[in-house]
Amino acid sequence: MQPKDHLIIFDTTLRDGEQSPGAAMTQEEKLRIAKALERLRVDVIEAGFPAASPGDFAAVQSIAEAIQESRVCALARAREEDIRRAGEALAKASAARIHTFIATSPIHMQAKLRMTPEQVLERAVAAVRLARNLCEDVEFSPEDAGRSEEDFLCRVIEAAIAAGARTINIPDTVGYNLPDRFGRLIATLRERIPNSDQAIFSVHCHNDLGLAVANSLSAVLHGARQVECTINGLGERAGNAALEEIVMAVRTRADVFPCETRIDTRQIVPTSKLVSSITGFPVQPNKAIVGANAFAHESGIHQDGVLKHRETYEIMRAEDVGWAANRMTLGKLSGRAAVRARLEALGIHLDGEALHQVFSRFKDLADRKSEIFDEDLQALVNEDAQEVASDRLRLGYLKVCSEMGTHPEATVELWVDGVARTATKTGGGPVDAAFQAIEDILQSGSRLILYSVNAITTGTDAQGEVTVRLQSADGRSVNGQGADTDIVVASAKAYVSALNRLQMPASEHPQL
Ligand code: KIV
Ligand code: ZN
Repeated sequence: MQPKDHLIIFDTTLRDGEQSPGAAMTQEEKLRIAKALERLRVDVIEAGFPAASPGDFAAVQSIAEAIQESRVCALARAREEDIRRAGEALAKASAARIHTFIATSPIHMQAKLRMTPEQVLERAVAAVRLARNLCEDVEFSPEDAGRSEEDFLCRVIEAAIAAGARTINIPDTVGYNLPDRFGRLIATLRERIPNSDQAIFSVHCHNDLGLAVANSLSAVLHGARQVECTINGLGERAGNAALEEIVMAVRTRADVFPCETRIDTRQIVPTSKLVSSITGFPVQPNKAIVGANAFAHESGIHQDGVLKHRETYEIMRAEDVGWAANRMTLGKLSGRAAVRARLEALGIHLDGEALHQVFSRFKDLADRKSEIFDEDLQALVNEDAQEVASDRLRLGYLKVCSEMGTHPEATVELWVDGVARTATKTGGGPVDAAFQAIEDILQSGSRLILYSVNAITTGTDAQGEVTVRLQSADGRSVNGQGADTDIVVASAKAYVSALNRLQMPASEHPQL
């Protein structure tokens, strides 16, 4: 039997995923996700775009220093300053990659770059050469390749390979392609470009028509050996190809795919939950692989079939993707060492004051909830990290009076730069009243554009995790999260957390 090719899994949750409106993450959150991606055994972690802002630079630098088992990649436009910043941010990585790109479609070259095709080709070659002087491993992307002219695409790619690019990534930037044609495009490029054997072909598909995964898999069947994807399909607009779907399709249909990944699939669900709780983007219940219902059988006929023979209705095993069969729980009597050990098992290393803070929150929660699950611990750590990241505002006290047939009234004490301020307001419901009271104190002028509540675990004593998205007067949107067994408290925490983020300087992403 022929040995299978290796399919490189390139995760861009921290770069393209962060471009989802409202998904901005702090440096500490990015580092936590990067460590989870390393445990998942992704081959390449695209950690960010260092030239975008000092915050992005620092995040890539800290990830490059911390990660040992995955290659760390930084994105750079085909510009000298971007490429040098990427090289600097990656200086301490054990394995690094610079990913440089320039658009090659007629519409992008004319309307966005205002450059001729010859100028674009020249810039691509110069960018790859410079990147190769700074880093052994260089990836080149002709942005909007999916709408580029084939002859020109072939010329640019051939020149980029000759200049030293070892990975050629074909982005379907606007999600315009269809599986059959996109697969054939990859096959054609590999056939037509004389030096194509010196590079690995990669794909990067967006999901505007819901085809990102189908297009990526079709490309793999036509010779692509790297797929760029994100956890939960996060990403610009409708998102990118979902990592979990790509990996499980290749594994489940090993009879069709001539390649395999090195992903530890049991880490898929924990990583999905971590990304969802940090970004505040809930996973829809019927989402393939990681949705709460992905392995739930409702119909009696299905249940009967699964009990008789699992494979009647299941093509994958829930345990194989990390839906834990027997979950460890902690409780009121668990000590600091047990909490610390459980956190370590989740890849969260805390000492000193940080551990003390999380442990005291744990004790407080354990007084109200009999079993503390991994998801509860993750939420405690998220909450602590959010407060550390920016603590200009802190919720001190909240009292809500709610009675059927009357307008609920909320009294809030909010600490603003160390000074306690109080307000009382009524609202359409208890959450509205609490938000009105906070707004009365701060007069932020921000607009609530999304509010969602999810139970973190099962049971009536479960914590509710609330996500609030606010838009500032200047159009910036941020997410805030809060968790508590009382959802009005969780909502107020989430609102304050979003307001705290609005106080942070915006990280300006230059136009990609
Ligand atoms: O979608 C896209 O074209 C990108 C490139 C930067 C690869 O994200
Ligand atoms: Zn993209």
